[in-house]
Amino acid sequence: MQVVLRPTADEASSLVARMIAKALRAKPDLVLGLATGTTMERLYGILGRMHREEGLDFSLVRTFNLDEYIGLAADDAHSYHYYMYNHLFRHINIDRRNTFLPDGMAKDLKSEARSYEEKILRCGGIDIQILGLGTVGHIGFNEPLSSFYSRTRDKSLTPTTVAQNSRMFEEPSLMPRRALTMGIGTILESKALILLATGKSKAEILAKAIEGPVTSMISATAIQLHHDCRVIVDEEAATSLQAREYYRWIYENEPEWEEYRGK
Ligand code: F6R
Repeated sequence: MQVVLRPTADEASSLVARMIAKALRAKPDLVLGLATGTTMERLYGILGRMHREEGLDFSLVRTFNLDEYIGLAADDAHSYHYYMYNHLFRHINIDRRNTFLPDGMAKDLKSEARSYEEKILRCGGIDIQILGLGTVGHIGFNEPLSSFYSRTRDKSLTPTTVAQNSRMFEEPSLMPRRALTMGIGTILESKALILLATGKSKAEILAKAIEGPVTSMISATAIQLHHDCRVIVDEEAATSLQAREYYRWIYENEPEWEEYRGK
């Protein structure tokens, strides 16, 4: 795992955007795993701008989102289908037929979960999975005690997650208590992972997730098991990390980061 600290949330998000852009230029039909949430809004804003101003081409990209609420239709303004359309898809030249999210309205959730996994496999697997970090330590909606072998499935949300996300709903009680989410096993099969975390509210859980012991109580600790994982954070999220100086040194000195430095 490599951890990169950037001074602000804008700079952290811009670094992730440039990493995605580089992968996309190398493989125009990239299979990109996507997350939703407040953290990602900045990243998607930058990707939209890169499309408009630099002609970053998404025409062949395939995308798979981590999760969707159970019981919300795609046109519901609180659904992740809607979020993705609003924050990213309508701002880039992606073919909507190549964008996939689990169907939270499916009558048979088990079969929807199976078919979602099959679609990922048919596309050749996810090249880069983008992850956010929940205050409960989840990635996707893999709440505490999710098995590291888990696959896409329906999952009940913890009170912490409900408290985190219900502020997006005008009436908090309307927030669904269950979701369809890729499993930890599904996520770990991605060829590469990039976790983006910003802001003070993530500092404590971020330190546990990347420097603490691996435990299913904090499902984000599973990323420590991935062989190709990068964690990009801003200074606020980094305040509780023990090895901050080492991470700074890596970014300033490792050849991998040279092309990004000073921009
Ligand atoms: C949502 C998802 C979640 C979020 C996490 C952080 O698709 O995968 O794991 O990334 O809850 O959310 P924010 O960015 O709103 O703090």
